[in-house]
Amino acid sequence: MKKFYVTTPIYYINDIPHIGHAYTTIMADVIKRYKKLTGHEVFFLTGTDEHGQKIEESALKQGITPKELADKVVVRFKELWKTLNIDYDKFIRTTDAYHVEGVKKIFQKVMAKGDIYAGEYEGHYCVSCESFVTEMAEDSGEKNKICPDCGKITRTVTEKCYFFRLSAYQDKLLKFYAENPGFIIPRSRMNEVVSFVKMGLRDLSVTRSTVKWGVSVPGDETQTVYVWFDALTNYITAVDYNTEDATFKKLWPADLHIMAKDILKFHAVYWPAFLMAADLPVPKQELIHGWWLKDEKKMSKSTGNVLDPHILLKHFNSDAIKYFMMREAPIGADGNFSHQGFITRVNTDLSNDWGNLVSRTGGMVEKYFKNEFKNDATDGGDALYGEKETAVKTAYFQLEKEALELFDGYQFNRGLERIFEYINDLNKYIVESEPWTLAKSPEKRAVLAGVLKTLVRAILSVNVLLSPVIPETAEKIRGIFNSNDAGLGWKETGERFGINKGEPLFPRVDIDEFFADEPAGKNKKEKKVTEQAQEKQVEPKMETPQPQSPEGTDGLIGFEDFQKVKMVVAMVVDAEKHPNADKLLKLTVDTGTDTRTLVAGVAKFYAPEDLKGKKIIIVKNLKPAKLRGILSEGMILAASDADGRPYIPIIPEETPVGAILK
Ligand code: MSP
Repeated sequence: MKKFYVTTPIYYINDIPHIGHAYTTIMADVIKRYKKLTGHEVFFLTGTDEHGQKIEESALKQGITPKELADKVVVRFKELWKTLNIDYDKFIRTTDAYHVEGVKKIFQKVMAKGDIYAGEYEGHYCVSCESFVTEMAEDSGEKNKICPDCGKITRTVTEKCYFFRLSAYQDKLLKFYAENPGFIIPRSRMNEVVSFVKMGLRDLSVTRSTVKWGVSVPGDETQTVYVWFDALTNYITAVDYNTEDATFKKLWPADLHIMAKDILKFHAVYWPAFLMAADLPVPKQELIHGWWLKDEKKMSKSTGNVLDPHILLKHFNSDAIKYFMMREAPIGADGNFSHQGFITRVNTDLSNDWGNLVSRTGGMVEKYFKNEFKNDATDGGDALYGEKETAVKTAYFQLEKEALELFDGYQFNRGLERIFEYINDLNKYIVESEPWTLAKSPEKRAVLAGVLKTLVRAILSVNVLLSPVIPETAEKIRGIFNSNDAGLGWKETGERFGINKGEPLFPRVDIDEFFADEPAGKNKKEKKVTEQAQEKQVEPKMETPQPQSPEGTDGLIGFEDFQKVKMVVAMVVDAEKHPNADKLLKLTVDTGTDTRTLVAGVAKFYAPEDLKGKKIIIVKNLKPAKLRGILSEGMILAASDADGRPYIPIIPEETPVGAILK
């Protein structure tokens, strides 16, 4: 069996895991499952990057040691990977003793060769990127004070340190790229790397005397190893570089490093050069994806625009998240994450097209055949396959060929798109074959069996193609149709089915319920767009850029901005449960100038009686919005805790109705 070694970046532990980290890790998981399906023995590595100044400073701010910080955050990563059903084989932490030992080993090896030497460095250091600016660009003067990668102000640092002789690797790297044009995918990123290296490479400082939290340099305790040298080495230390045993010989070089474009230079320039210097083979390929943006900016903790996957996990299973991410983002391009895009994609593809196809077919096999086809003339053997049935089967082989080609090139979005075309054709096939009409004529029983068998076989076959992306669902579907064949190809199986009418595979998630559960005010803009899109029955588009809010600049707003929001005291004259949504209450309120209806997502925590007769605060001039069929003309104010639990401020009885808050 051919081995396949795939990695994610190791994530910094000064950030909590968000959708961006989840994307890379999900992609690695999908690739692992796909490679297994196509006959590979796979080793999947992920982990955390725990050393360096950034982490030292974060820990200091929190009043704990860097290791305590790491121990705390690493749990969050591991928990999320478990919830997302990520099937990694090893989780490495750069504070693990074997890793520290491995870093020292490679450092010493390169030093002995003369490619690491002692010197002195003065430069502009970006703490956020853990990188000297002059190493990254040739600019000089003022410009150097700003990090070209993140735009933050850098610090001037003079250090005694050790340098890596990167300049000696320029030609070797260019030769390597020329001989291996597929090293970086997509191709556009390969071109970027080549131009960068052609501009000339300076020697790179690979130790720090100012950073204490790191691997100490062998033989010089005053220095620690530069965090990127330390971090990149994880890919070899995780597979026994220390001993260079059979595992190392088998697994190294890695077949695929996956990452976003922000860390391309480190992986495509520095890493191969370090490895060449250590006389080790370089990785075979690197897959560079784009960024998930929120409000047009890369999602990251420092920008404060991260999306927590747990919000989605409250309503959707991990397969839905995996499917959305793989279906939506073409490799290489950036994508704006929007809840509306997410909900629409999952509801349309997974609930309507795939989930319904499976449940309709299962339902008919159960209803008309009591889950069992007798393999005789009455229930139709394969000879009864008509023209249409043969076409369904032939089309599957064509689909499998195309989907595998696309998946081999890591074009998951296109592969999935193609698979769903076939699924839609199967849905059309049901409509055209009208099994419900066939079922009315006993003499058509064999034809009916032929139709349903074809459907079951097609479903079980497509199910395998989808299994790397939605593995839990794939297993459920095999369970439904009593199949244990998880391999590729057309499934000529299935005469008896243990149809198990459990929960729907992908219950449709209602947009109102999703947003009603959200902490007050969050994602309101998206919700509105989604509602409009749903009302017009159009596919919502990705978010368009919005002008920057005043809050985005300095966190302060002017009084005139505050005045735009008209808040008044209103009396709840009536309250009842929303007839179509468990989480919503329908309130009738007296605002002092009119009586109007408000819909509030508080039903899980407030009974109608709790609010009747109470005075509350409402936003009076909010544009009306329809929530599950009822028009809400304003919004009640409530505080919300981290879990989204609302707390409605109740105003003293003596306050006049209509009193303005200012
Ligand atoms: N610790 C370094 C990596 C060392 S690897 C030897 C690091 N860590 S990180 O926590 O900042 O993770 C960066 C990686 O996380 C990106 O390359 C990407 O894989 C993933 N992502 C983080 N935010 C992301 C988005 N907003 N969008 C897409 N991927 C994102 O860099």
